[in-house]
Amino acid sequence: MRSLSDIAALEVKGFLAEDEGRRLYDLAREASALGPCLEIGSYCGKSSLYLGLGCKERGQVLFSIDHHRGSEEQQPGQEYYDPELFDARTGRIDTFRLFRATLDKAGLEETVVPVVSTSAVVARSWATPLGLVFIDGSHAIESVFIDYCAWSSHIMPGGFLAIHDIFPDPKDGGQAPYLIYQKAVGSGLFRELPRVNTLGILKRRKPGDLE
Ligand SMILES: C[S@@+](CC[C@H](N)C(=O)[O-])C[C@H]1O[C@@H](n2cnc3c(N)ncnc32)[C@H](O)[C@@H]1O
Repeated sequence: MRSLSDIAALEVKGFLAEDEGRRLYDLAREASALGPCLEIGSYCGKSSLYLGLGCKERGQVLFSIDHHRGSEEQQPGQEYYDPELFDARTGRIDTFRLFRATLDKAGLEETVVPVVSTSAVVARSWATPLGLVFIDGSHAIESVFIDYCAWSSHIMPGGFLAIHDIFPDPKDGGQAPYLIYQKAVGSGLFRELPRVNTLGILKRRKPGDLE
C-alpha cells in the first residue's frame, strides 16, 4: 500500500468514515515524530490502515489493542452483528483472522503490532510514552472510562488523544465517548482541535502552554 487512495480500494469492514480516517492518518504522521501510536479497538483493521500508514511513513509503529471477541453491540442478535465474523467452532466472534489479512494486504505487518487482549489488562503493564492514543473500543460506560483513565496519562506533551463516536446530542448516538471527551477537556491537560465528523481530537498541552 502506497497511498491513502489505496486504503479505500481494500474495502475493509469497519465503522470509520473516510474523512475521519484521513484525519487519523495526518495525526499519526505528526504524532510519530514524538513516539509510537496506540489504538484501542482494531476490529477488522480499518482505522489501523489509516493510522498505520501515517506511522509507516515516519518509521514508527502502531500498537493495536483488541481482544477480537467483539463489543457488546456486535454479538449475535445485536444491532451490529456480522455473521461473517462468527466462528462456529468456538461459538464466538473472531475478528483477528480478518485483521491479520488486512495488515497483510496493506503491507503493514512490520508497522502495526497486534495486541490481542483487553485494554485494561495491557494498560496494567504499560510504561511507554505515546505520541497518539485513539479510543474506539467498547462503548459501554465503564469500559470507556477505563480506556480514558488507563491510557490518556501515557500521551506525551504535544501528542494527541482521538476519540471516535462523539455525539454531543444524545439523539444522534451513545454518550459514553462524549463523556470522556468532556472529562479530558475539563482536566485542563488537553486543548480541543476541530472535530471531524464524529472524531473528537485533543492535543496534550506542553508545560507553559497558555492556550
Ligand atoms: C467499534 S469496533 C472498532 C472499529 C475500528 N476502530 C474500525 O475502524 O473499524 C470496537 C472493537 O473494540 C473491541 N473491544 C471492545 N471492548 C474492548 C476492550 N475492553 N479491550 C479491547 N478491545 C475491546 C471489540 O472487540 C471491537 O473489535
